[in-house]
Amino acid sequence: VEPDVVTDVLIVGSGPAGASAALALSTYGVPNIVVTRYASLADTPRAHITNQRTMEVLRDLGVEREVVAQATPQHLMGNTTFCTSLAGEELGRVRSWGNDPLVQAAHELASPTRMCDMPQHLMEPVLVDAAVARGTNLRFSTVYKSFVQDADGVTVTVEDRLRGDEYTIRAKYLIGADGGRSKVAEDAGLPMGGQMGVAGSINIVFDADLSKYTAHRPSTLYWVLAPGATVGGIGAGLVRCVRPWNEWLIVWGYDVTAGAPDLTTEYAESVVRKLVGDDEIPVTIRSSSAWTVNEMYAETYGNGRVFCAGDATHRHPPSNGLGSNTSIQDAYNLAWKLKLVLDGTASPKLLDTYTAERAPVGKQIVTRANKSIGETAPVFEALDGLSPQTPEQLWANIVARKEDTEAAEKQRARLREAIAFKVYEFNAHGVDLNQRYSAESSAAIVPDGTPDPGFDRDPELYHQPTSRPGAKLPHVWITAGTRTLSTLDTVGQGRFTLITGIGGTHWLRAADAQDLEIATVVIGPGQEYEDPYGDWARLSEVADGGALLVRPDGYVAFRHATAAAGGEDAERLLTEAVRRILGHA
Ligand code: FDA
Repeated sequence: VEPDVVTDVLIVGSGPAGASAALALSTYGVPNIVVTRYASLADTPRAHITNQRTMEVLRDLGVEREVVAQATPQHLMGNTTFCTSLAGEELGRVRSWGNDPLVQAAHELASPTRMCDMPQHLMEPVLVDAAVARGTNLRFSTVYKSFVQDADGVTVTVEDRLRGDEYTIRAKYLIGADGGRSKVAEDAGLPMGGQMGVAGSINIVFDADLSKYTAHRPSTLYWVLAPGATVGGIGAGLVRCVRPWNEWLIVWGYDVTAGAPDLTTEYAESVVRKLVGDDEIPVTIRSSSAWTVNEMYAETYGNGRVFCAGDATHRHPPSNGLGSNTSIQDAYNLAWKLKLVLDGTASPKLLDTYTAERAPVGKQIVTRANKSIGETAPVFEALDGLSPQTPEQLWANIVARKEDTEAAEKQRARLREAIAFKVYEFNAHGVDLNQRYSAESSAAIVPDGTPDPGFDRDPELYHQPTSRPGAKLPHVWITAGTRTLSTLDTVGQGRFTLITGIGGTHWLRAADAQDLEIATVVIGPGQEYEDPYGDWARLSEVADGGALLVRPDGYVAFRHATAAAGGEDAERLLTEAVRRILGHA
């Protein structure tokens, strides 16, 4: 039977993973179709924290400016506040999301981009608009039903919800970006580790002018240690800013064994009143929904011509804000590989490196996000608030910390330490930027024979740039005439890039000789790019005549620290590297 519709890549889902896969593929000129279940994009704020690595991806895909224009800027994300309610007593704050002066400097040094808060209902339209403008064919109200694959492609049956009938789409590759209940991942039989439904949570979206409780301590997250706040949920009650300071989202837990409560407007209002603590403020409930905290990750991200990305492969709570970030980065990793396989440049073996590179990241972030929930308990413990849970007892414990006694001083210290420890959730720069791909498991990374020196400091808290193969290219500001640009701006755009300096002529010729388009960048005095501050010389870890081969996703694939011994040497080394990366070795 002839399929009804034909394309190169069919993407199921228009969330962060599917929308960014479509955007990247369309940017690279790969024909693609997105089918998505509903008649609209996300209608609630959902994921929001957008980290520097994601902003780098969006910068390369040409939508950084659109996101910055709509997002809440970094300086309004700065205080994660712990309190008994917004109107109630404050227990302490953590400087967050790059707003600690030292961490802020680290953010400025690490990337040309800034973190921001971009709620999902604003992010999806930016990604989808740009994707459609560049060629993506988007089909709303279209549900994925099943697929069959053969040696040449995948035939997918979808249901058109408007007409109420089914039809087939034939694609060379299928991407399941269909979220935490992914049917594509299930049908592809992707092996999963961990478990679903660890705890119950409720999201309540509401409008209220809360500026009198928030504008003086601007933040994305206000954590509320109210009685009942340790039941289910994500560590405590949470009042999250959607738009400063009148659109909000509350996360409140429920006992997953008892099932979700009836989400009436009255119930939602009662939770809002408890966490806001001021009954005089007018509140309009927009929506309520129940969800579960999951701790699940796929061990393999693909099966034949079917690949999954985003929550389809990693399911975890919002702690650390890793959901849409990781989803967008998955898609960015996969898109250039599909492009090179589809245009015949690379062997399909290149696609094996998608699982090799992204599955360890998925597992790591699922573990990190769940660990962060547990790390809120010491804040309650410091107030002896885990066991009694009656409002009177918890309140008495909170008041007791103000006494002039040795016990109260100890309690104050415990509370300060417990809150400060939450830096692993709210200011973990290393979690955001230290993702490294291993040459041992991924053929798209060429080992350079040097031993891995490891991390100098806590790899979750501190970013450590390196040009070792498998790390993302270090950012420094360089110049081209009167223009200042990031080293990251010289790479990407769907191409490989060879970076060298004075004495690297052999590398440039070797790059030209490949059956692969490789852009070339020469950094040095009198060259196309100059390094006026000497930052590149300090961070590049290669001599002027050495070379880095950077992948389209900004990761270093190959490094040769010194000038090649001669033209033949450079060509042989680079050809071997390219063959390995493209799966021709
Ligand atoms: P996502 O779930 O965003 O997208 C899946 C897409 O697939 C959707 O477009 C859906 O319509 C489509 N789809 C599913 N099945 C389909 C089918 N059979 N056929 C066609 N289309 C199909 N994270 C966070 O950090 N903070 C938060 O507060 C929240 N809150 C939150 C609330 C709710 C209600 C949800 C569902 C999720 C969150 N999250 C969150 C999680 C966050 O939204 C999530 O990590 C990212 O959106 C993951 O992006 P994906 O693109 O992988 O999936």
